[in-house]
Amino acid sequence: MNLLLLGRGKTGSLVAEVAAEHRHRTHIIGASDNPNASALTPEKLHAIDAVIDFTAPQCVLANVEACVKTGKNMIVGTTGWHPEIDRVRALVEQHDTGFVYAANFSIGVNLFYEIARTAATALNHQYDGQIFERHHAHKKDAPSGTAIAVQRILHEVAPQHEALEITSFREGEVVGFHEVIFESAADRIYLSHDAKSRRGFAEGAVRAAEWLVGKKGFYDFKDIWREL
Ligand SMILES: NC(=O)c1ccc[n+]([C@@H]2O[C@H](COP(=O)([O-])OP(=O)(O)OC[C@H]3O[C@@H](n4cnc5c(N)ncnc54)[C@H](OP(=O)(O)O)[C@@H]3O)[C@@H](O)[C@H]2O)c1
Repeated sequence: MNLLLLGRGKTGSLVAEVAAEHRHRTHIIGASDNPNASALTPEKLHAIDAVIDFTAPQCVLANVEACVKTGKNMIVGTTGWHPEIDRVRALVEQHDTGFVYAANFSIGVNLFYEIARTAATALNHQYDGQIFERHHAHKKDAPSGTAIAVQRILHEVAPQHEALEITSFREGEVVGFHEVIFESAADRIYLSHDAKSRRGFAEGAVRAAEWLVGKKGFYDFKDIWREL
């Protein structure tokens, strides 16, 4: 595939490495090449099969708008734009493109979501709970999109329980640690996921781009990762 990668930061540069290992042609652009999505014109996107975005919350919506309006399939890993999800879904449907998004493209975290979904039954049986997340000190958004996704999953299973509180820590170079603790009068249950590197995110995003070839529609990675 001919992939355009937006963001040459910590994750974007690793996505470029993984895409090259998968024998895709890759072009990568950073912030200075793309103010206000100015690099994403129909002419410049002409030969591109799909665009992968790992940028920042303040520019991701402009990038999405430019690429989707040009009819390009997108894989969006950038977090912090979820409140706009309905508008983005409508844009993708209007332009009949393919779109996969996730707060977390790691297969392990998506399995963790399912474990959390099963364990959430505890909230219907006199357990209370808390969510903790730790990330490196440079992370721009808090709480993490992954922690919010876990919170949403737990609330779907136990809607009568108030949404679990998320506590965020920003320190050092932590790649991504998420923990759910359920507590009753009798015991505690600990569920945790600890990312050792960004490799899992990059692999998931590249494999999602491969999966999306020839497809249209708006997909959450947590619903499609088993098909990769
Ligand atoms: N879904 C997942 O699996 C997953 C995993 C990890 C991270 N993330 C999310 O992905 C995003 C990036 O994370 P990161 O850790 O890689 O951050 P990062 O190291 O800060 O990298 C962000 C990059 O985006 C570039 N950028 C900013 N505006 C841009 C624009 N308009 N066009 C193109 N590039 C632009 C920046 O370029 P300059 O350096 O030139 O300013 C920077 O290199 C965050 O939202 C993070 O939460 C998601």
